This record gives sequence, structure tokens and C-alpha cells, in this order.
Amino acid sequence: MGRISAETINELNDRIDVLSVIGDYVKLEKKSGRWWGRCPFHNEKTPSFTVDPDRKTYYCFGCHEGGSVINFVMEMDKLSYPEAVEILAKRFGVTVIRDGVFIDTSETEKKKDDLIVLYRRVAGSFNYILTGTPEGNGALCYIKERGVTDELIQRFRLGYAPADPFWLYKFLLGKGYSESFLAESGLFTKANPCRALFSDRLMFPIANRQGQITAFGGRILNGDGPKYINSPESLIYKKRETLFAIDLAMNGIRETKEAVIAEGYMDVIALHAAGVCNAVAPLGTAFTEEQARLLGRWADKIKLMFDSDSAGRTAAVKAILTCRAASIPAFVIVTEKTPEYMHSNMKDFKDPADILKEKGAGYLQQFVKHCILDFEYLLAENKRSLSGSDSMGKAKAVASLFPFLDMIDSEVERETYIRRIAEAFGTNTQPVLNDYKVWHDGSGAAPSAQPSDSQPIRMSEELYLLNAVAVNCGENPSLFARLRSTIPVDAFTDRCARELYITLEECVRAGNMNFESVLNGIETEELKRFVAEKAATREFSEKPELIVADSIRRVQEERLTRKLGELVSKIRAAKNDDLPVDDLIHEKMFIDAELQSLKGVNK
Ligand code: CTP
Ligand code: MN
Repeated sequence: MGRISAETINELNDRIDVLSVIGDYVKLEKKSGRWWGRCPFHNEKTPSFTVDPDRKTYYCFGCHEGGSVINFVMEMDKLSYPEAVEILAKRFGVTVIRDGVFIDTSETEKKKDDLIVLYRRVAGSFNYILTGTPEGNGALCYIKERGVTDELIQRFRLGYAPADPFWLYKFLLGKGYSESFLAESGLFTKANPCRALFSDRLMFPIANRQGQITAFGGRILNGDGPKYINSPESLIYKKRETLFAIDLAMNGIRETKEAVIAEGYMDVIALHAAGVCNAVAPLGTAFTEEQARLLGRWADKIKLMFDSDSAGRTAAVKAILTCRAASIPAFVIVTEKTPEYMHSNMKDFKDPADILKEKGAGYLQQFVKHCILDFEYLLAENKRSLSGSDSMGKAKAVASLFPFLDMIDSEVERETYIRRIAEAFGTNTQPVLNDYKVWHDGSGAAPSAQPSDSQPIRMSEELYLLNAVAVNCGENPSLFARLRSTIPVDAFTDRCARELYITLEECVRAGNMNFESVLNGIETEELKRFVAEKAATREFSEKPELIVADSIRRVQEERLTRKLGELVSKIRAAKNDDLPVDDLIHEKMFIDAELQSLKGVNK
């Protein structure tokens, strides 16, 4: 599969409705001729995120994220450029044409596509074996016995991997797959490439946000071995960035602005069965910060529903810190009955699957509604482990809340918690504060400021010119033509100006002279944002011809003055060494004249 053609991008640009695309993620309002919303890339109360429907770009004045609408979709849905184009093209009825020229860059893309097809087929086969063959009958009985209906089996595309570990290999060879491709597919063991990773297991397909299956989790049914086996990471599967059932939960999370995190595959299925359709689970690892950030794009809060055993409680504490590190408040759904928790009229349960089985969907749905703020949960957990009035124990219990305090961005919020801790442990605020300070300074806790490795971009005269040209290149392509005929790219000394120049050049060559293509062509992330910002502020929108003409003159002047300086030192050096200077002086006169005429025009 080749590179997406310029015509495709141009046509997509013509047809795309930016407000509806971005509007799916951000509530936009028109104010003084511009569209505003709350930025999805950082937390904010008042809108500083703007959309320009004409240029088809977005820019946030708060966090300086910005780019084309395609960049927006890439960023929001974590897609590659071709993936985002494909999805948008489909939505706006544009046929994607590929050039087939840059084969090398798309080789991995092709492999990804092939893997996606393979996993879809294999999942389909496993699903058929589970539901339509005698071989899957045992597994089918097992899963139904656990309260999973036919509808859910299909929604989650559950399956059964046959007991014969060599079946899959033979089956796929028969379908024409090559040995080398299968060896790299992640479906077979490293030790023996003919032996399936999963055999005699109940199969849970793991999908990406588009619902494409990228991996499996397989639960044991009989015999010995690990309870679950999970697919290895691959080109299409990164477990830290994926969540089980994210494809099914996405809409629910967007609607409710909440996500429920459960521990396991079975728990998620139970929750969806109970109508809790915003439930997801990590994939055989602890809940990661990447996962929290991903959810944080749509969810204002995350509800944790972990097992009530001690492993589950430890996982909950870790997950709370992970959520808070991503600036998302967490709530804990408590599945056990203890005097500390408000809804203690409920019975003790191990996990959601357990609740569904014993009490049914309605009960589980109600259960999820009862949750307590992460901080209150931690407080209760720590108080619980405290026996009597043991003062060392008390200090320790208080101290175990410090990592949580460390994650809180707001001083005001932190102070509220400190006051609450003091109250809960029967002490004053000041000692808690002091202990926290000592702990914080001594623990080498992470510095709060985020180090930035990228240098901020400075607006030079050259960069100003290139910005003016780039921002208006769609409506006014002659601006670049004019620049190109006056100053060659080599004459630019500003690194960013050069990059923009080259990007514009490439767009002209590809027949793609529009702002969105220019933005997409910029490789340096910082520069891309910088240019997007200039477009959003509209500082180059009024009379661009004049701006560009003036700027060309100033850049020329700068350049000639610099040249003049160089020539003067060359002449001096040549004179010192008794070398001929005629040519140099001639050149100097020429530049003098050029400078004079430039200044003349300036008057
Ligand atoms: N897990 C894993 N490998 C294991 C055990 C567990 O990857 N050997 C992961 C799985 O993602 C599993 C989750 O941890 O879903 C939770 O484990 P557990 O509670 O044991 O499994 P459940 O999915 O709840 O299954 P069940 O209800 O059948 O016990
Ligand atoms: Mn479980």
C-alpha cells in the first residue's frame, strides 16, 4: 500500500466539516467570529481552545497545542496519519488513492494491515468454534454458566481455541499464510513456531479503539498452566496503551464523562452485562499512566472497581495514584462490607462477576453508583490498619497518605486534604504539614515542574516572513512564488524558517498548496504548534500581500547587511595579506547599490 495521494488529501480538505469532527470531542461555541471550546489536551475551566473552520485548524491559547483537523483526530484517537486520513475519508465519502511510490515507508503499515486481518480471521474462527461446534461446547457451557448471554458472547467476540495446539498452524497454512509471517504473528510459541500460544482456552479478543482485534487473552478451562495467557506486544498491540473493551466503552465514556476500571476481562463483561457500558480493564498489568491519560481525554473521573482481596486493595491504591498523576480524580467502588463505608448495607463480594452471578444486573448497576472519593478511601484504609492510640502507628498511617498529597496539583486542594487528615487522626494541621514537608524534601519526590527538552521558538525576521507566507498559502499561493523568486532557501539562517521554506517547497511540488498540508509537512512538533498559533491569532490575516512584501524587504536588508559585513572583513584581510581586492570591492559596490535601492523603496 502506497502513500496517500495529494489529491486524496486535497479532496478530503474540501469536503471535511471541521466543526463536526472536532465537535464530536469538544463542545464548541461561536464567539466574536470564532469557535471556542474547553481544550481536550489540558484541564481548563474557561475555553481557550479555538477552531478555524476556514483553515481547518485548531489551536489552544492555553497549552499551545495546535494543528490541522487531521492532527486533531490523530492526537485524540492516537492514530497514525494514514489511519486518521482513512477514517475521515470514510466519514466524508472520499476515496483514498495511494501513490504506491514510497513503498519502503509503508512496509510496516502493510504488515499492520495484514496482522489486523489475521487477528480478525482467527477471532472469527475461535468464535465459530465456541458457538457452532461440539468442540467448543464445554467452554460455551462454562461461560454461560457464569451468566454471559449469547448477545454478550457476540458483542465481545468471545471464542474457544481448540485443544490441539497444532490446529491453528495447519489451519492458517491452509489459508495461504506464509511460515515466516505466522512466525512473527504472535500467535505461536517462540520455542516451536507450529505450536499455538493458546490451546483449550476461552478466548477474549482485545481490540483497539476502532474495534480492530490486535491481541488475545486466553483463560484456562482445564488442566494446569497459568490462568491467563496474553498475546505478546506487536506492531499493532501495546499493552500499556490499550484497555480491554475500549472499543465498546468509548461511547459510554464520552457520554457519562466517567470510566469504570475493573481488574479483569470477566469483570468488564459482567459490568457491560449490567448496562455499565463505560467499563474497561488493563491487560494483565497494573493500570498505567498512559491508560489514565487516554481515559482523561473524555472522562472527568475514573471509578475503580477492584477485587476486595488484599491484592485488589493494593492495586486500587496504586491506581488512585496513577489517576491523580494524570490529574484525574478517582473514586473507589467498594465491594466489601465494612463499617467505614457508607453503603455497608450491601453484602461482601469478591468482584463484579461475582455480584452479577449472585444478584443480577440491576443490583450490580446500583452497586457501581456507590463510590467514595479516592482520598476518603485512602483515609479509611489507613485508619483501618491502625490499632488503638499507638502514636508511632498514627504517624505512619498519616505518612502513608503523603504520596497522594504529592500528586495533587492545587495547593488549595492539598490544604483541604491536610486539614481532613488532621481531623481524621485527631491532631492539628500544622504537625501534619510539617511531617509532609520533611517527607517531601527528604524523599526526593519528583520535582513538580515538567522539564522541557525542546527549546522555545523565537520569532526572527526570517521566521516571521515564512509564517506570513505559510498561514496564507491556501488562499494566496502567489506569496510563496514571490518569495521563491526573490530569496533562495540557502539564504535563510534561521533553522525554523528554513524548515518552513522546504515544507512549502514540497507542498508546491506535490500540488498540495494548502495550510493543512503545510502543517502536516512540518516535522518539528514545536514549529508546527508555533505556526498553528500564528494562524489562530490571525496576526497575518490582514493584507497578507503587504505583510509579505514588507517582510521580504526586511529579510533582504538583513541578509545584504550581513553580506556587506562579511565582505568588509574579507577586504580588510585581503589587504593585510597583499591579495587582490578588486573583485571583492566590485561585489561590495553591487551590494551597496542593492541595499540603497531597497531602502529607497522603503521610504
Ligand atoms: N491476569 C493475567 N494473567 C494471569 C492472571 C490474571 O494476565 N495469570 C489478568 C487478566 O487480565 C485477568 C486479570 O488479570 O482478567 C484479573 O485476574 P483474575 O481476577 O484472576 O481474572 P478474572 O478475569 O476476574 O477471571 P475470573 O473471574 O474467571 O477469575
Ligand atoms: Mn476476577
